[in-house]
Amino acid sequence: MDVMEAIKTRRSIRKYKSTPVEDEKIIECLEAARWAPSANNSQPWEFLVVKNPETRRKLAEIHRYGRFMADSPVVVVFIADPGRSSNWYHGDVAVSVQNFLLAAHSMGLGTCWMGVLNTPFEEPIRKLLGIPDGLRVLCTVSVGYPDEKPGRNRRPLEEITHWEKYGLKSK
Ligand SMILES: Cc1cc2nc3c(=O)[nH]c(=O)nc-3n(C[C@H](O)[C@H](O)[C@H](O)COP(=O)(O)O)c2cc1C
Repeated sequence: MDVMEAIKTRRSIRKYKSTPVEDEKIIECLEAARWAPSANNSQPWEFLVVKNPETRRKLAEIHRYGRFMADSPVVVVFIADPGRSSNWYHGDVAVSVQNFLLAAHSMGLGTCWMGVLNTPFEEPIRKLLGIPDGLRVLCTVSVGYPDEKPGRNRRPLEEITHWEKYGLKSK
């Protein structure tokens, strides 16, 4: 699958088959995540892989918009270290998440990104997983083999693109 195809065909998956996900595939996706660009190459990311069903059930209980974590075979928690990149950690780690999602999709895996940073879910998730103070939880990502095929649309390119000056629509 080439990059454009992966970008255009990836969709958030919230329903998963019970088939286990191979550790090798998770590691390959994390490999993609760690090769993301970051400000000053600060790489302010750490990854926490959760497979334990009881822990996933607790994550699903905490995150009101991520109940399906109870049923996805794997959840990856993306942790940010502001000490490595105080101004840019949010964007840096977000880019690594997108790399992860695209790599997973290219391997036939479904994912869904659940925002955690600055939500009421962040502190309980930090406590549950023993994440040290000072680190931030950017998001959780559910991973598994898809059991749905959602459609989705995007705003038209011409509506969101300007040429040379804001508002100019022709080249
Ligand atoms: C920062 C961020 C936070 C998100 N949080 C959630 C969430 O809490 N629960 C959820 O089901 N989806 C969440 N999503 C997934 C979006 O709903 C989804 O990407 C969007 O609707 C577009 O659909 P697509 O990913 O299938 O193209 C989040 C996505 C992003 C980028």
